[in-house]
Amino acid sequence: MSFTVVTGSASGMGRSCVDRLRGRADHLVAVDLEAPDIDGTFGVACDVSDPTAVAALIGAVSDLGDFRGLVHAAGISPAMGDARRVLEVNLVGTQLLVEAFEPMVTTGTAAVLFSSLAAYQIAPFANPEQDALLDEPEAPDFLDRVVPTVADSGHAYALSKRGVVRLASRAAVRWATRGGRVNSLAPGLIDTPMGRLEMDTQPAMRDMYQKSPMERMGRPEEIAAVVAFLMSDEASFVSGIDILVDGALLPNL
Ligand SMILES: NC(=O)c1ccc[n+]([C@@H]2O[C@H](COP(=O)([O-])OP(=O)(O)OC[C@H]3O[C@@H](n4cnc5c(N)ncnc54)[C@H](O)[C@@H]3O)[C@@H](O)[C@H]2O)c1
Repeated sequence: MSFTVVTGSASGMGRSCVDRLRGRADHLVAVDLEAPDIDGTFGVACDVSDPTAVAALIGAVSDLGDFRGLVHAAGISPAMGDARRVLEVNLVGTQLLVEAFEPMVTTGTAAVLFSSLAAYQIAPFANPEQDALLDEPEAPDFLDRVVPTVADSGHAYALSKRGVVRLASRAAVRWATRGGRVNSLAPGLIDTPMGRLEMDTQPAMRDMYQKSPMERMGRPEEIAAVVAFLMSDEASFVSGIDILVDGALLPNL
């Protein structure tokens, strides 16, 4: 028996990934703040930023067989929380999950962690001191050290996703020793409840949308298709990288 876990599966891209990954493992575990009720899946409630809840998630899947994969789409956008909460959910939560699942990694296990186009937008402004801070999301005082260096929740979002990209590449090196792979995937502007909320509340997002060479947002299933490739054995030598899926928006910004 085997299982694959999809976080953020109640909405948006996580929901599309559930549909796309049916059949990849015997059990598909759908995780969100409230247990998703999706046909043919095992729903688990878990706030990924809460260590106790993540430990309970591990307990809930521990008798489902071999760990085939993790798609970690759960996250919050700048409009959904303050700088501290954005970093806590997006980066500390990702660290908690990757660390918790690591002992279960075996030959063929794959993970895709959701980053963002925002990680590319902030890259030219990165500095080694801040990267060193971002690279320790497991530190007990991580949030206390990083939050004072952050301007607002939008800045926190971009930093959190830069942290996810860097975390994925570090984890890929460790998981390789067990036969596993880790990549991150950076969506551009995608038509989900989160994407719509940001478009409605942030003028900068509407400006970005105007520059979209394809003159549209991406569809969640277009992201899920790339996730399915990264999770498949077709991608057996793809690990430790971030894949930007933005319809050529970045080069036009
Ligand atoms: N939509 C976009 O344009 C866009 C662009 C770049 C990156 N992303 C990233 O893609 C991922 C998926 O985004 P989406 O647009 O599908 O969002 P969404 O808001 O539609 O879905 C996200 C899901 O994550 C869940 N979630 C939030 N916090 C959680 C927590 N602490 N624990 C467990 N579940 C939690 C929510 O309940 C929701 O069901 C996110 O990580 C987001 O940052 C989105």
